[in-house]
Amino acid sequence: MEYRLELRNISKYFGEVRALENINFQLGQNEVVGLLGDNGAGKSTLIKIITGYHQPTAGEILFAGKKVDNLTVPKARQLGVETVYQERALAELQTLWRNIFLGRELNNAFGLLDVQRMKQETHRLMTQSMGFTSSAVSPDSRVGTFSGGEKQGVAIVRALFFDAEIIILDEPTMGLSLKETEKLINFVRDIKKAGKSAIFIDHNILHVYSVADRVVVIDRGQVAGQFLTKDITLDQLMNKMIRVAETGSFD
Ligand SMILES: Nc1ncnc2c1ncn2[C@@H]1O[C@H](COP(=O)(O)OP(=O)(O)O)[C@@H](O)[C@H]1O
Ligand SMILES: [Mg+2]
Repeated sequence: MEYRLELRNISKYFGEVRALENINFQLGQNEVVGLLGDNGAGKSTLIKIITGYHQPTAGEILFAGKKVDNLTVPKARQLGVETVYQERALAELQTLWRNIFLGRELNNAFGLLDVQRMKQETHRLMTQSMGFTSSAVSPDSRVGTFSGGEKQGVAIVRALFFDAEIIILDEPTMGLSLKETEKLINFVRDIKKAGKSAIFIDHNILHVYSVADRVVVIDRGQVAGQFLTKDITLDQLMNKMIRVAETGSFD
């Protein structure tokens, strides 16, 4: 089977700081992988290498089995990587439809903005994919009025709509209410339903456990272990995490 994404022996140093050491990581087709690990474990650094933001000090990155050298942010995007950050920049003063199509507007046959089609498409995405049920929300609503969870939804739907193959969520539930968090978790399930792959980072083990097919535990820049969630209970996973934090190993 061909992986959608594979990292081979990736290391990353920031001067004297060894952020990642010999990371081997795979993301399958239509797989959601959860990344777990303490603060400073290297999770965000790993993500920044995948998104082309950082160049690795050593190692190889493969997309769909093909090695990619000198990955940059635009190149990663071209390869189908989209990131949803908590602080994801939405244009707060702009309408929902503008935000969905920001930078990738649809034109009509005359080369003019096809506003009607963009609004229609936004309405369809809202009801079918974003699960927006509030009658207060329409394609013309300004996103500055949305809840944190709704804003995340906009970012995820945008990623899905524009054919991202790999959607990365780095601590997306930070600062969200319980209800918004639940919604976000459902968005991640939608990614899976849409046949895409995702990497999901959250400090809450329960969140990760409830959406991930597989969990990869990073400890001090190294892969400490990985588990299929179907093979392990939440309790067992929690106990393993405690053991890793205490001893640096699962044994
Ligand atoms: N740009 C940087 N310059 C120097 N050190 C960094 C930089 N980014 C991350 N680090 C260090 O690398 C390690 C891993 O950080 P990070 O990937 O942010 O961890 P996590 O996301 O798991 O909390 C930490 O020791 C952090 O201080
Ligand atoms: Mg981080």
